[in-house]
Amino acid sequence: MTTSKTNSTAKSRLKFLQELPRTGPGTTAGEMLRRYWHPVYLSRELKELPVSVRMLCEDLVLFRDAKGNPGLIGAQCSHRGASLEYGQIREKGLMCSYHGWTYDVRGRCVDMPLEPPGTKHKEKIRHLWYPVVEWAGVIWTYMGPDKESPPPLPKIDVLARSDGEVHLKQGDIRNYNYLNWMENFADMGHAFALHSLVPMEVPEELKPFNDAAIRSWVPSRLDFLETDYGMKTVAVWDTGDPGMKFVNAWSIAMPTHWRFSGVNAGLPPDFTDDRREAGGMLRIIDDTHFEIFRYTLVRKGNFTGNFIPKKMATADRGLPQTLEGTVEKKDYDKRRYSAWEGIAPLEDLVLQESQGKIADRAAEHLATSDRGVILLRKILRKAMEDVDSGKQPKRVWREKKEMVEVDTFHGHIKASELEISSKNLPSSLNGRGLIRDSAGNLIY
Ligand code: FES
Ligand SMILES: [Fe+2]
Repeated sequence: MTTSKTNSTAKSRLKFLQELPRTGPGTTAGEMLRRYWHPVYLSRELKELPVSVRMLCEDLVLFRDAKGNPGLIGAQCSHRGASLEYGQIREKGLMCSYHGWTYDVRGRCVDMPLEPPGTKHKEKIRHLWYPVVEWAGVIWTYMGPDKESPPPLPKIDVLARSDGEVHLKQGDIRNYNYLNWMENFADMGHAFALHSLVPMEVPEELKPFNDAAIRSWVPSRLDFLETDYGMKTVAVWDTGDPGMKFVNAWSIAMPTHWRFSGVNAGLPPDFTDDRREAGGMLRIIDDTHFEIFRYTLVRKGNFTGNFIPKKMATADRGLPQTLEGTVEKKDYDKRRYSAWEGIAPLEDLVLQESQGKIADRAAEHLATSDRGVILLRKILRKAMEDVDSGKQPKRVWREKKEMVEVDTFHGHIKASELEISSKNLPSSLNGRGLIRDSAGNLIY
């Protein structure tokens, strides 16, 4: 390569890395993100008061009209800018409490009580609005240019499953860029270092079903594969039986969904066949904030306990309230998070936040363990370029594709049946991947 070509490749790489974490309107990455549906709020949490929600650097207000239909509109009133967060629900929509201008769920101004009767002024007002859909207990929005006819909402399979109970939770807000989080899921290697700082114990009840022949936490194979929905990581361990492998897979569906299975994200030392499916998605607030929505599918036959029973009272995989791990706290520890080791979600928070509000990617030195991160960036870069040149990015399907099937796997597979490709691994449907005794009865 000539020097000038090398320079221009380096320049365009740098430009991409700087654009990548941006989420606002008019930015290349922000415009790419606006081609997807995003979660805004859990249905059960939206009651009779409007709530302010910042999405992709835009200040908005979410409300239900008198019929219960959700609406998402600009936070500042089109009249003189009072916040509609303090608005009142009225028959026709959301009324600004200051002078009574009222907006319906599509941003049309339907009332101006202080103007002369018959005024046409309200027809001239079109307040900022975005389409919303309520599905699977979640209110979703599309903030792209095609607001009048957005692409259909792609339905993430685990939220639609009826063979178990879906547990949904929102409210974990982080003060750093969302890609610190997403890149963590493209980087399974970190799990074998960070999450083994404090070796975890297999719960007593699971011990009889745990494959004790697997001694090393580090898998014999770690593959990163592009799929139609995004990408996945497949880790393979050798077992005591040459005909049998143990597999753990994590997946990312564009742009902010992640999935895994097993009691502890499928991390060692859980070498059982339990495949409680879990994961989540992000509400991107702005360049340096996001909120985590976690989901877990709990089926009959799933182990619902935890690897760290004392510190984590619930099985929702969230953070401990004290933001303390399981190690002893030293009285001279003055770090923002002290004694943080021992609980995987907390370990992730600490290290992701420590990368910086926006990580300095230009200063990185990537290595072979970063193949997943490189693949995720490649996928995002292509999506940004596609949107920039007027095309639909990955996983925006115009045709009505009902489900986004995201495969995750955690358990034993016959070596002869293991195919590491972008094709789905065996799914956990039909009762596969639940712990059974030798007579075939469900144990957990
Ligand atoms: S500022 Fe909202 S009606 Fe006047
Ligand atoms: Fe992690």
